[in-house]
Amino acid sequence: MSNLAENIAETDSRSREEFLADVLAGLSTRPKTLPCKYFYDERGSILFEQICELEEYYITRTELALLSDIGAEVAELVGEGVTIIEPGSGAGVKVQILLDALLHPRKFIPLEISLDALEASTKELKQKFPQLRVIPHQGDFTDQKDLKKLPLLKEKSERRLVFFPGSTIGNFTRKEAVEVLNNLRILAGENGLVLVGVDLLKDRNRLLDAYDDHLGITADFNKNLLVRINRELDANFDFERGFDHRAVFNEQASRIEMHLVSASDQSVEIGDQKVEFDEGESIHTENSHKYSEQMVVQMVTEANLQVVRDWTDEGGDFALFLLEPLLA
Ligand SMILES: C[S@@+](CC[C@H](N)C(=O)[O-])C[C@H]1O[C@@H](n2cnc3c(N)ncnc32)[C@H](O)[C@@H]1O
Repeated sequence: MSNLAENIAETDSRSREEFLADVLAGLSTRPKTLPCKYFYDERGSILFEQICELEEYYITRTELALLSDIGAEVAELVGEGVTIIEPGSGAGVKVQILLDALLHPRKFIPLEISLDALEASTKELKQKFPQLRVIPHQGDFTDQKDLKKLPLLKEKSERRLVFFPGSTIGNFTRKEAVEVLNNLRILAGENGLVLVGVDLLKDRNRLLDAYDDHLGITADFNKNLLVRINRELDANFDFERGFDHRAVFNEQASRIEMHLVSASDQSVEIGDQKVEFDEGESIHTENSHKYSEQMVVQMVTEANLQVVRDWTDEGGDFALFLLEPLLA
């Protein structure tokens, strides 16, 4: 069996059980929550790609342009023959810019929870970069068990670059983000580097528009979580009329929050469980934290990392930080 096939067989047997447990746990807390890592089934991944093309969603195009601008500098700092690991690699679009810029990269290890995204991006990367070894891995980058399964930890001598773009770090609370950064440092190893993309604090109306576009694609993306729960967990959410998409800016926490707000008092069945919703009650589905440079430096220091170099686009919207482990 190929690496990916072995990995899929193992993951499939536990994924539905974990999904159900996570959904029921989230909906039994106050306020109710659902983990954002489940957004990306096949339709969710397609909707996210459409979001990235939206005029309001400045994040992707800004980061892509910044990556192109700094590619040669990153290549020089990283050196030749590196192994790249991308936790949450999605469609693998951004890494292609990096692969074009780097000097003879050896291997690419995407670690992705969504099998659909992993299969599609692996196929594309193998075609576009025939010299590169692509070693796909399905797993959750917040789960130590999945991180330990990565083959790279056995190869201590290789130089690694952990790539974590898309401001995915912003989906975590501060404490969780420090834990994720810690995991990235461990994946990079003592001699490795970490390249992280972060969305910077800006005008609140621009932020709100980016998460509530006029075509309603972000609303569909948010509601698709309920579609997925219906399909995979035998539930009966009225995803069309029962819940409304809402984006709010939480100033104190410096983050955009996405919610699904119940349009009425209602009861939803999930498998053999029943969950009650009051009219106006929200399910908190995603956080996207927005940072100042100072906030990033504080977080990475807590994760025992230090900044080698950082770059910001001309508009001051988005930043990329190249980090290395702090020596003990
Ligand atoms: C916003 S996309 C970013 C994709 C890509 N890194 C980029 O910046 O273009 C987030 C991706 O991370 C994946 N993901 C989210 N949480 C994850 C987790 N805990 N473990 C592994 N993958 C995860 C999703 O399935 C999705 O493909």
